[in-house]
Amino acid sequence: MHVILLAGGRGTRLHPLTQDLPKPMVPVVNRPWLHHLLEIVGRLPIVDIRCAVHYRWEAIRNIKWSSIRGNVPVELVVEREALGTGGAIRNAANGVTMTFMVLNADIVPGMDLCELLERHRKIGADCTIALTQVEDPSAYGVVELSPDGRILRFVEKPAPGTAPSNLINAGVYVMEPYILDSIPQGRPISVEREIFPQLIEQGARIYSYISPAYWNDIGTPKGYLSTHWDILQDRMPIRFPDGLSLHNGKEDIRVGRRVRIDSGARLIGPVLLGDGCVIRSGAVVGPNAVLGPDVKIGNRSIVQNSVIWAGAQIGDNSMVEECIIGYNTIVEDRSTARAELIPSRGLWRDTARPAIV
Ligand code: GDD
Ligand code: MG
Repeated sequence: MHVILLAGGRGTRLHPLTQDLPKPMVPVVNRPWLHHLLEIVGRLPIVDIRCAVHYRWEAIRNIKWSSIRGNVPVELVVEREALGTGGAIRNAANGVTMTFMVLNADIVPGMDLCELLERHRKIGADCTIALTQVEDPSAYGVVELSPDGRILRFVEKPAPGTAPSNLINAGVYVMEPYILDSIPQGRPISVEREIFPQLIEQGARIYSYISPAYWNDIGTPKGYLSTHWDILQDRMPIRFPDGLSLHNGKEDIRVGRRVRIDSGARLIGPVLLGDGCVIRSGAVVGPNAVLGPDVKIGNRSIVQNSVIWAGAQIGDNSMVEECIIGYNTIVEDRSTARAELIPSRGLWRDTARPAIV
């Protein structure tokens, strides 16, 4: 089997953090998400992984593949112009003659991918779409099913209140190679908006695999943050960076090497601190905080429900809540940042609202 990762989108919902970084490279528990994903799919019995890239793809080129992928070859398939999800599949699957699996590179697939493949084979489907249940399906692809699990309708991002179910496309498909003949070449095309509805109309055997396993979407701020809290609480098995230890033996407080926690600073789990972090006196970090390597938190500052990327510095007497803060950004003393995405190498100054003093 081949695996195709769709990794070429612009990541607009994470802008400005993804202005100079492709979404698959955003850090999740301090490792690029793509590294985690390669480890997950690398466990499958596969021939190769083809990574369909476009937006800011140069940042993906520099990955040291050999250290992550084991013996599975990984090929970057670069699109000069964005081909859309359908066009990307067609392009990356060039020459494929056996069953293949496609994954959106921004989803967190806790499901058993081997079981998905087995189900696809047992049913003899042309295509099998993994589904997961969510409360509000309007931001996703939504399906209507027959009692035997055949997909009767696929609607991408239905208007609120019009979704046929709350079972959504989890962004993982198994496809037979002849499906590729239905994808026209030469123009960008969406597998969700055009190819799936068209295949269903033509009577193709498109089946579902409903998984109750963990699933999330790192492509939105909310999904990105909650993925972190879930991983920290062991709801999704993911490899943490090397060299972590438990702070004072607490299971949910993981700290890297050379971390400095001044007396009077407090960590409230779940928390992850990367190598070289400095937490100054009186600061409170957590619950729900992930700090990348070399992040510094100033005296008496509070950081909660936030992910801070490597090298960022939070000044003294500041408050950071529900934020994602980019690499090497400085949040000045006495600032408040709430539900903000703060770009890398930025400067955040907010004296308009009173901060903690
Ligand atoms: N190579 C390539 N080229 N990849 C692309 C392109 C392209 O032109 N456009 C999008 N992608 C990649 C994105 O990087 C992402 O990994 C994946 O395709 C899906 O695109 P998104 O832009 O993230 O779509 P979405 O999140 O709005 O919706 C998709 O995912 C949902 C699950 O999270 C759809 O597949 C929905 O049906 C699904 O429910
Ligand atoms: Mg997405």
